[in-house]
Amino acid sequence: MNDPVLAQYEALPYPLRDPADEKRRLIEGSPSNLKEVDHYVFAGRRDFTRPFRALVAGGGTGDGLIMLAQQLAERGTPGEVVYLDLSAASRQIAEARAAVRGLANIRFLTASLLDLPKGDLGLFDYIDCCGVLHHLEDPAAGLAALKAVMAPEGGMGLMLYGELGRIGVYHAQEMLRQLAPASEPAAARIEAAKRLLAELPETNWLRRNPAVGDWRRDDAGLFDLLLHARDRAYRVPEIVALAAGAGLEIVSFVDPWRYDPDSYLSDAKLKARLAGLPALERAAFAELLAGNIKSHNCYLVARGRAAAALSEPSDSAAIPVLRHDDGPALAKLIRDDRIGLRIDGLEMTFALPRLAGPILARIDGKASLAALQSSLEADLGRRAEATAFARDFAWLYKVMNGIGRMMIRHDVRRG
Ligand SMILES: C[S@@+](CC[C@H](N)C(=O)[O-])C[C@H]1O[C@@H](n2cnc3c(N)ncnc32)[C@H](O)[C@@H]1O
Repeated sequence: MNDPVLAQYEALPYPLRDPADEKRRLIEGSPSNLKEVDHYVFAGRRDFTRPFRALVAGGGTGDGLIMLAQQLAERGTPGEVVYLDLSAASRQIAEARAAVRGLANIRFLTASLLDLPKGDLGLFDYIDCCGVLHHLEDPAAGLAALKAVMAPEGGMGLMLYGELGRIGVYHAQEMLRQLAPASEPAAARIEAAKRLLAELPETNWLRRNPAVGDWRRDDAGLFDLLLHARDRAYRVPEIVALAAGAGLEIVSFVDPWRYDPDSYLSDAKLKARLAGLPALERAAFAELLAGNIKSHNCYLVARGRAAAALSEPSDSAAIPVLRHDDGPALAKLIRDDRIGLRIDGLEMTFALPRLAGPILARIDGKASLAALQSSLEADLGRRAEATAFARDFAWLYKVMNGIGRMMIRHDVRRG
């Protein structure tokens, strides 16, 4: 075994998971939540009663794989999820997790994603590649290999490290290359890293970085972050270029609010200066402004298809869906017409419209905007008139979609 990345993941599969935990919880995240995939790749119109083929490339210990396979199984979607990873040790954990859940829709393969174009796996409707390409010697070759097996109308969910939010990580990696070189056993390197971390001065960028905490969790997290055999991080324009090089384009970064300068600015003159910029330039600006994006999640489709791939609340037949089907609970989180969150060291609150709570409480993933409006009108009378509803829903949608909680689907039987 001479690939240092493979050697690392054989010795320390990451993230560390205990298959027994599948009995008590499902780990859900981005990319590859099925509602999100429908929204950002299939314009909210994928009929999941039709066969669906997904590839989880660099599936690791199985987080994305298990979520996707479980969600497809719950919908009764025919088809399969192919798991691919170089590391047999990681595959063992992923397989054990699938077994605990009784998932029968997964095919496990031990191979390199670089060899996909030479294989005979056929084309995939959707490809998950989360936290993998930035470990390859040539990430562009990796993305091209994935694109070669993506169906023309399919898409991908990618996660790549974010350069600015990882400030301090590469400083620590550099110090550890001196203190505890790769020639030493992993245990000795981890011990040296812990000793160094215990003594970081207050001014050290890693210590000051509120976005990065993996090194505090477990040894696998510490190794993956600070002693990794190979990793690099990206800024938004580099991801745009990487995608373009493979004949792909970005539909959206998630969560969208983080890539919108207006989320952080209140100065109207500054906002006006940025208003005319294309969305991806605004995203690059927001990344610089926030400084805390440590990983970029985004959905990609073939060049020229991004606008058609994105779902929108375009008409009154559109159906809002909530990531966790938790409308009433979300409505209860609203305080003084605002909803708050804290992410990677940043505290945010978002203003919401008057009808936000009543609308959220009625969203069940089945009711269309028209149905929600009539239900509100019946209960609230004039306050829910069509214009007030349309204005308030558009505002609510921007916030809730922005924070990754609301997506839009369209009734596929009605086209
Ligand atoms: C950081 S882990 C991410 C695992 C998983 N995608 C997740 O998000 O939890 C990276 C994984 O990529 C795998 N990997 C690295 N290079 C690969 C390649 N060329 N082909 C397939 N898998 C690869 C590693 O073995 C490792 O399991």
